[in-house]
Amino acid sequence: MRILAFETSCDETAAAVVEDGIRILSNVVASQIDIHTRYGGIVPEVASRQHVLSIVPVYQEALRRAGLELKDIDRIAVTHGPGLAGSLLVGVNFAKALAASVGLPLYSINHIEAHLYANWLAFPTARDDTSRFPALCLIVSGGHTEMHLMHGHGRYSLIGRTRDDAAGEAFDKAARLLELGYPGGPAIQHAATKATGRYSLPRAWLPGTHDFSFSGLKTALYHLVHREHLLGHPELVADAAASFQDAVADVLIGKVSKASIDLDAACIMLSGGVAANATLRNRIATEALVEVFIPPLSLCTDNAAMVAACAYFAGARKLPSGPDLDVEPALAMK
Ligand code: KG4
Ligand code: ZN
Repeated sequence: MRILAFETSCDETAAAVVEDGIRILSNVVASQIDIHTRYGGIVPEVASRQHVLSIVPVYQEALRRAGLELKDIDRIAVTHGPGLAGSLLVGVNFAKALAASVGLPLYSINHIEAHLYANWLAFPTARDDTSRFPALCLIVSGGHTEMHLMHGHGRYSLIGRTRDDAAGEAFDKAARLLELGYPGGPAIQHAATKATGRYSLPRAWLPGTHDFSFSGLKTALYHLVHREHLLGHPELVADAAASFQDAVADVLIGKVSKASIDLDAACIMLSGGVAANATLRNRIATEALVEVFIPPLSLCTDNAAMVAACAYFAGARKLPSGPDLDVEPALAMK
């Protein structure tokens, strides 16, 4: 089964064709990072307008790279939430019109759920293989930090989530404080490679829960920056970046490892943009007590191949969407 998928929930316009949920025939991502960098963050209206400009060429390129025409596609899938309303609208409208014009079934996909399916793309297994369940899934992106226990395809229980900032959001705000630019995750990671020392920063363990909190860490970094007059001293900024990165990694790894034991998970699956972080990737594989899956970098950040994989695996439990499909900016995982 060949699924053509679209992803426009934030600042990437993406289209992909995936066969049987695991073979990527094309995966096209048009990033808007250069545009938003000028503003130091994503400007929603600018993002929507850029999606309007990019969606047609990105769609055409996805078919061209796959060597296919629309008549070779069996299903269309699109992210309908969570995300920026204006951005989601572009992908949803385009996918709806395309599906209606050729009579293909349209599957609406949750962006968070799609992130975790990057693991099925990167580490393929049959749809009826249950050996990875229950899987403890940690989704760490710019807008979300959530842990779900995955009992089967499309079946989850929420285990914990951030009570304030998402991990990616914390990276972005920390990078802004340290004047390292946008997006913050890669900038902090790069600066941290030059660190020679560490500052002491807090970790919010929130004992007795599997929830996360990063706002206290962000405030502590703010006070550190001003107390120690770090700005303008690249070697001190590097130490602060590394200290911040260590604190986030400690909490993510510590909490996901504990949850995997508490809940008797068969494995841990990491996904979302922050799963691209080298320190997190290197440490979690050695520190966790169960098998850990982490997709390659290109499948951690936003893409449409993960949306197609989700539509194949989890879609087996869902009906196609009808003409009343709308965007759901605050959509949660069910
Ligand atoms: O999943 P994603 O591409 O988009 C959303 O769904 O939000 O995640 C974007 C987030 C940004 O906050 C970005 O700073 C973070 O992922 N990120 C990283 C790294 N690469 C991207 N965070 C830490 N280290 C990285 N290498
Ligand atoms: Zn995302």
